[in-house]
Amino acid sequence: MCGIVGYVGPQDARDVVLEGLRRLEYRGYDSAGIAVVADGTLTAVKKAGKLANLEKVLAEQPLPAATIGIGHTRWATHGGPTDRNAHPHLSADGTVAVIHNGIIENFAALRAECEAAGVEFTSDTDSEVAAHLLAAAYEAGAEGQSRLADAMRVVCRRLEGAFTLVATSASEPDTLVAARRSSPLVVGVGDGEYFLGSDVAAFISHTREARELGQDQVVEIDRYRGLSVTDFAGNAVEPTSYTVDWDAEAAEKGGYDWFMLKEIAEQPQAIADTLLGRLGAHGELVLDEVRLSDEELRDVDKIFVVACGTAYHAGLIAKYAIEHWTRIPVEVEVASEFRYRDPVLDRSTLVIVISQSGETMDTLMALRHAKEQKARVLAICNANGSTIPRESDAVLYTHAGPEIAVASTKGFLTQLVACYLVGLFLAQVRGMKYEDEVAAIVADLRKLPDAVAEVLSGMDEVRALARELADANTILFLGRHVGFPVALEGALKLKELAYIHAEGFAAGELKHGPIAVVDKGTPVIVIVPSPRSRESVHGKVVSNIQEVRARGARTIVIAEEGDEDVVPYADHLIRVPRTPTLLAPVVTTVPLQVLACEIADTRGLDVDQPRNLAKSVTVE
Ligand code: M6R
Repeated sequence: MCGIVGYVGPQDARDVVLEGLRRLEYRGYDSAGIAVVADGTLTAVKKAGKLANLEKVLAEQPLPAATIGIGHTRWATHGGPTDRNAHPHLSADGTVAVIHNGIIENFAALRAECEAAGVEFTSDTDSEVAAHLLAAAYEAGAEGQSRLADAMRVVCRRLEGAFTLVATSASEPDTLVAARRSSPLVVGVGDGEYFLGSDVAAFISHTREARELGQDQVVEIDRYRGLSVTDFAGNAVEPTSYTVDWDAEAAEKGGYDWFMLKEIAEQPQAIADTLLGRLGAHGELVLDEVRLSDEELRDVDKIFVVACGTAYHAGLIAKYAIEHWTRIPVEVEVASEFRYRDPVLDRSTLVIVISQSGETMDTLMALRHAKEQKARVLAICNANGSTIPRESDAVLYTHAGPEIAVASTKGFLTQLVACYLVGLFLAQVRGMKYEDEVAAIVADLRKLPDAVAEVLSGMDEVRALARELADANTILFLGRHVGFPVALEGALKLKELAYIHAEGFAAGELKHGPIAVVDKGTPVIVIVPSPRSRESVHGKVVSNIQEVRARGARTIVIAEEGDEDVVPYADHLIRVPRTPTLLAPVVTTVPLQVLACEIADTRGLDVDQPRNLAKSVTVE
């Protein structure tokens, strides 16, 4: 949610900042803006709409060459997506520029205070108040080094809510100052140059050396003196260093039309990478990075899985596997609801938070609530150095590499794999599974990359079907057992990418109401469990297909190889390889990803940047 870029160093800041914005545009694309300081003058240009609009303006009115600059791509919260609400925001005298991600919750009171002092606001945003307060604190501050950083600390102490702020001033042409509270910010360190970014994608083509900023910290970067970090009170803090383990190429489209297509294709490798190094020589699991002792894991008597969107669907599937393997009760909740209903948590509760980005505010707030209640928190996360793993007691990283498309694909499949690993590990530690049982499931996990590759190699018919379905008004998804969350995920993908009304149902619930919406020709996609699944749930789903077909539905059936029972009732049959029931979502989800992507493409939509969305949702 909002991309933030900053640069100071010998290169032309205009190019570095624009390149960073291109890489971060997936975080928000309501507007874009850039400010540079050259020859003691601050110049800013901003434009509503995608970055391309800003680039057009810059082609007509180029900025001066500069060695310091900041840039922003916006996902609007306060104030519509207009030119005037685009960032950077400038102080009244035009000498200080600020970009902001997050929400300043007490902005109304602060704005009233600034207006009472005679400041005229030029936008409807909460962010602009930071520019005016910063300019005032700068004016009031003592002469000398770190004046802008001192002013930033003064301002941050007054702000409520979540924010990343980056500021530059015409009076300090070699200094960038940034601050963060509950909102992402990383520093890139190159050779005599420094970068700021909402995530490392902003500077990955320049350096892989990064510094992580903690909660309530301010970083001052002087081109010649280097960087220093303090808390909001001004106490020095040592930032954590790390090296980014992927390169610029990983964040490029690599010949695909869309990032989403590339990320779908990368799934076999992403799953293999997520399994890598976690399987011992005898098939046992080795999860050294989970910093919870065996004793702590044996103490767990209840598990909550908390996440949002697609990650929540991964949690719903995790419940089936973890309960089956460990017999520990598992509840799954959307993070935005979790803390507001006062869940029963204590020291014996394990809260598993799942987040691809590691920055989702709803999930972060749920995590903090769980920790306040003394529960232990284990994060499943993809983005190294992000806030959620940093604040959790333990972390299991997925190794999906950068996920740029707003719709999560490889992030989801690797979250599933990580959930399986956690469930099996708990079963192993608690003696619920013998070594050979763990080894057998591990062997099945090892087959998943090939199974997904096989699904991907047979997607031509799904693409053809997508073209036929592109004009549908509504598409329904049905599943049972682990197929139910897959149905939810299929519907979410279609909604977010193709803007088609879609709903996922537990197939058995259909007859309790939803079947009324089935009409002649309504496409109904059914995820069929394996015929080997428990308690003949397979047979029941086959009956459900017949029920909707009898009411005129066009049935699109996803079933495993060799399942002949579905053949008479499938208008379209999509085959997936035989996979153990609990692991089946890893393969059955893939055709739904491809379908949604292709329908959106056929409808001429922007697959990677769907309307109204942003990749990482850093506001509540
Ligand atoms: O980064 P996170 O996994 O925490 O993100 C959670 C959701 O915002 C995310 O999965 C969202 O639903 C995706 N756009 C779905 O494709």
